[in-house]
Amino acid sequence: MLEVEGLTLHYYSGGGVVKAVDGVGFRIGEAETLGLVGESGCGKTSTGLALMRMLPRNVAHFGGKALLDGIDLLSLEAKRFDMEIRWRVVSMVFQGAMNSFNPVLKVGHQVAEPLVVKEGQRMEEALKTVRSLFRQVGLSEEVADRYPHELSGGMKQRAMIAMALVLNPKLLILDEPTSALDVSVQTQIMNLLKRLKRERGLSMIFITHDLALVSDIADAVAVMYAGEIVEYGVSDDMLTSPLHPYTQKLLKSIPRLKGPKTLEYIPGAPPNLVNPPPGCRFHPRCPQVFDRCRNEKPYDIKKGKASVKCWLYALER
Ligand SMILES: Nc1ncnc2c1ncn2[C@@H]1O[C@H](COP(=O)(O)OP(=O)(O)OP(=O)(O)O)[C@@H](O)[C@H]1O
Ligand code: SF4
Ligand SMILES: [Mg+2]
Repeated sequence: MLEVEGLTLHYYSGGGVVKAVDGVGFRIGEAETLGLVGESGCGKTSTGLALMRMLPRNVAHFGGKALLDGIDLLSLEAKRFDMEIRWRVVSMVFQGAMNSFNPVLKVGHQVAEPLVVKEGQRMEEALKTVRSLFRQVGLSEEVADRYPHELSGGMKQRAMIAMALVLNPKLLILDEPTSALDVSVQTQIMNLLKRLKRERGLSMIFITHDLALVSDIADAVAVMYAGEIVEYGVSDDMLTSPLHPYTQKLLKSIPRLKGPKTLEYIPGAPPNLVNPPPGCRFHPRCPQVFDRCRNEKPYDIKKGKASVKCWLYALER
């Protein structure tokens, strides 16, 4: 359904140009979920915002292709994208947005806004849709008449999900939808997302730093490091046999009931995206680095159903 190729989003900053998203590509089929995983600052949110074409003023470079049912979302005329695509076809639950409800407006009125603004519906009519949607996301109808401070974190996140679904999109981008919630509420939200995927045939991009969490819902996983996707493959395969040394390290840093008592960590810090390391961007932190990694940039190498940017998998080292 969605085929992304060479997606690029760079920002101007005081120190130079930040290469937040640098030639990212992936595919998502109908009713499929892609997990987009990586450390803080690797470009996950920027990837989501690029697909929504919600760009800040300091953009230095924005490019690539995102074909949705054959239409390139990135080159579509801005007005058409705004009228026909954003929120109607692709919508997003923004990172941390559950804390951005307007405190003086009832939640239902805020969730109904896309229906009023984009569809020209009267508020009364829009609220009927919102109440029915609230039931579908596990909220009682009367929550629509409450103010944001009268909702728990889990309820606010459900209301945010309802707002993203209000125009019945095909693709939902969820940016860290559970990271501010405790584990039991996190499980409830994950179950809700699985149900929505099943019942509505919804495709999703699930953004998180938590590889274990995403494996629960994703069909495919893309691991992002320093603005690039370094490994891409089927979720179960990646969990059992990760290919890229970064993915291997990420998995070894997750506590498991039957795993080793001491957890591994990834030495060093994520690179500065103004001047990322030459060659493989992970080379300063990689336990398996060799000469070629320091000078030559790895390309995507196919390994079964997966692809990996790492010289360990090249025929000739
Ligand atoms: N508007 C902006 N202007 C300049 N730099 C930005 C801007 N937005 C993000 N960045 C930088 O781009 C890089 C990627 O940021 P992004 O928010 O996409 O990362 P992320 O993977 O979502 O991180 P997190 O897990 O912390 O949410 C970071 O280095 C960040 O500082
Ligand atoms: S290309 Fe080299 S440095 Fe990069 S992940 Fe592979 S082995 Fe490590
Ligand atoms: Mg983010």
